[in-house]
Amino acid sequence: MKVKNIQIRFEEYAEGEQLPSSDLSLLQEAQQAANNSYAPYSEFHVGAAVLLENGIVVKGSNQENASYPLGLCAERVAIFHANSAYPGVKIHAVAITASAQSFVTQSPITPCGACRQVMAEVENRQAAPIRIIMSGQKGLTQIVDGIKNLLPLSFKEEKLKKKKL
Ligand code: THU
Repeated sequence: MKVKNIQIRFEEYAEGEQLPSSDLSLLQEAQQAANNSYAPYSEFHVGAAVLLENGIVVKGSNQENASYPLGLCAERVAIFHANSAYPGVKIHAVAITASAQSFVTQSPITPCGACRQVMAEVENRQAAPIRIIMSGQKGLTQIVDGIKNLLPLSFKEEKLKKKKL
């Protein structure tokens, strides 16, 4: 038996500390996207902005449903839209933030496990890492370069391939 360690790497910016300008502007797009969220049940409005390699920004927000499990996270709304509207165009970065009706979001909005799995598949397909910028309304901003920093040992499509015995 061996014990192995995996290191993850993220950048952390204090509130008010200057972010790289492209990250800041993508985060602002994510804030705008959150305004189009449909979240009457959770009252938690998430926005995601996807920056494509051609410079186009595609936005998404969480869309809920009275049948709760049917709702979709902002990240997947944005990523699936980007991939369907611009097939084959690589995703450079995704910014995520959220606002809530009854409190100020104070810590980075990190993507849920399902969204991480979707990002992992996009990275795998495009063979290039995605920069993920995560922030609340206040407090720290965290940035990772590549989903491996959020989802190590992920399930990948190659595991579905049969190996010859
Ligand atoms: N949500 C997102 O849109 N993205 C995440 O990464 C986490 C959660 C949404 C789902 C639901 O509409 C609301 O936030 C509360 O969970």
